[in-house]
This record gives sequence, structure tokens and C-alpha cells, in this order.
Amino acid sequence: MNKENHKKILVLNGPNLNLLGTREPETYGHNTIDQLEALSVEAAAKHGLTVDFRQTNSEGILVDWIQEGRNGYAAIILNAAAYTHTSVAIHDAIAAITTPVIEVHLSNVFAREEYRHHSYVSDVAKGVICGFGTHGYVLAIDSVASMLRNQS
Ligand code: DQA
Repeated sequence: MNKENHKKILVLNGPNLNLLGTREPETYGHNTIDQLEALSVEAAAKHGLTVDFRQTNSEGILVDWIQEGRNGYAAIILNAAAYTHTSVAIHDAIAAITTPVIEVHLSNVFAREEYRHHSYVSDVAKGVICGFGTHGYVLAIDSVASMLRNQS
């Protein structure tokens, strides 16, 4: 793996996150997905890192992208959205790779409906950040930078 690839973070967003900004803004805030991408790019740049930022409504595509993340990425930041609470396939994809995965949610899922309290991602994730809105992505990127510093 070349050194440059070590500095890339794969940021994956699941279903309905394309609607950020207009979707239940009292829960998910007013930032659009494009603004969230810009925030992530800026946060990564502060650490000399780059992000590959993606969104899909499809579970299978998320699985494909997680598998893609096994090579060439320092870490994956994953907001699997509703699939967090349903997808054994996403759990298995994360378990199958060694690239660290940080689980992120905009909302505090534990303060919401009970069906959001269980995550198929958390037990295979390096860490979990939830409840801080879009700033959670910045916290996740800062955590990746800190992990990389500790490795070198
Ligand atoms: C979410 C929380 C999930 O429960 C929900 O299905 C989402 C978004 C969040 O970012 O807060 O779509 O992952």
C-alpha cells in the first residue's frame, strides 16, 4: 500500500442521508449532505488527510464500499443510518476487514426509539460517536488523525 493511501479516510453514509437539511431538521439539523462533505474535507485537511465521501440508499452498495475500504484507506467513518439497526450484512462486512471503522450518528440514538438502541455496527467498530450532529464527523476525523499519530 503506498503511503499516500494511508492518509485517506472513507466516509460512508447510508439511506436517507442524501435528504439532510430538509429531513426532520429538528433531529438531523439544517446542514445538507454537501455541507457535511465540505466540513469533513476541511476537518481532514487540518491533519493532512483527505476524505473520500459517499452516500447511498442501498445496503449492498454499502457492503461493497466497506469491502473496498480494506485496502488503501486509514479508516472508514460509517453512518449506516437505518441499516445500523437491521443489517447483519454490514456487520459481517466490517468483521471481515481489518481497516478500523468508526460508527457515527448525527442524533443520539439512545435517546430515541428503542429500535434504534441496538446497532449491528457497534460491536465490530473501533468506536462510536453519536448525538453531536455534523460535528460528530469532525470528532471521528480527529480520532482517526490521533490513531495515525499514535501508530507512527
Ligand atoms: C442516524 C440514526 C438512525 O437511527 C437513523 O435511521 C438515520 C440517521 C443518525 O445519523 O442519527 O437515518 O444514523
